[in-house]
Amino acid sequence: MAFRLAVLASGTGSNLQVLIDRLHGRVAGIEVAVVISNVPGALALERAERADIPTAVFPLEDYPDREARDLAMAEAIDLARADLVVLAGYMQLLTPGFLRRFPYRVINLHPALLPSFPGDDAIKEAVDYGVKVSGVTVHFVDEGVDTGPVIRQEALPVHDGDDVVSLATKIHALEHQVLPRVIELFAKERVVPPAPGFRRVKVDDHEPSDIDW
Ligand code: GRF
Repeated sequence: MAFRLAVLASGTGSNLQVLIDRLHGRVAGIEVAVVISNVPGALALERAERADIPTAVFPLEDYPDREARDLAMAEAIDLARADLVVLAGYMQLLTPGFLRRFPYRVINLHPALLPSFPGDDAIKEAVDYGVKVSGVTVHFVDEGVDTGPVIRQEALPVHDGDDVVSLATKIHALEHQVLPRVIELFAKERVVPPAPGFRRVKVDDHEPSDIDW
């Protein structure tokens, strides 16, 4: 059975590339069904085109407001019959109407250990704060900024000599491991969303991964 992804990306799409290289057509029936961006010409779109994956672009300027833009985007996701919506460097907030259409089916990758350092500048804020440990979070998306229930976190040490560039390099390398694994677990139905009123996500990570690194 196929497990279809809609990947939303605004930027370079290095995480998308890992999903294409390691999961697409290779693991647990996973297919990247569509790549969507709000930024025309984003490198992420080129990466999808190179892999013959359909793309769609929804720049905010083309719509009366964010609700209308997100509605059009939600329709494209439905048309692609996506099981899971993956935000991989998608830099705009999604409207409540969009999120209501995909309950517990939208996940985001964040370059810090939430709830520390939410928002767009997490890596720099972590370095400036002087934390000794940072890491990566994958979480369900809710209406807040990086506030949804945590699915998986992995930590790494921040060394005295680290700066924003060196920490970003290490965090991206960790992201490239964590995000594919989480998606594999979704495809294998090993992720159980929280019960109503709770935040705790159950993740059964006992079986070895089928990802060929
Ligand atoms: C990642 O660091 C992710 O945590 C953040 O956006 C970045 C996207 O990187 N949300 P890339 O476009 O996949 O290279």
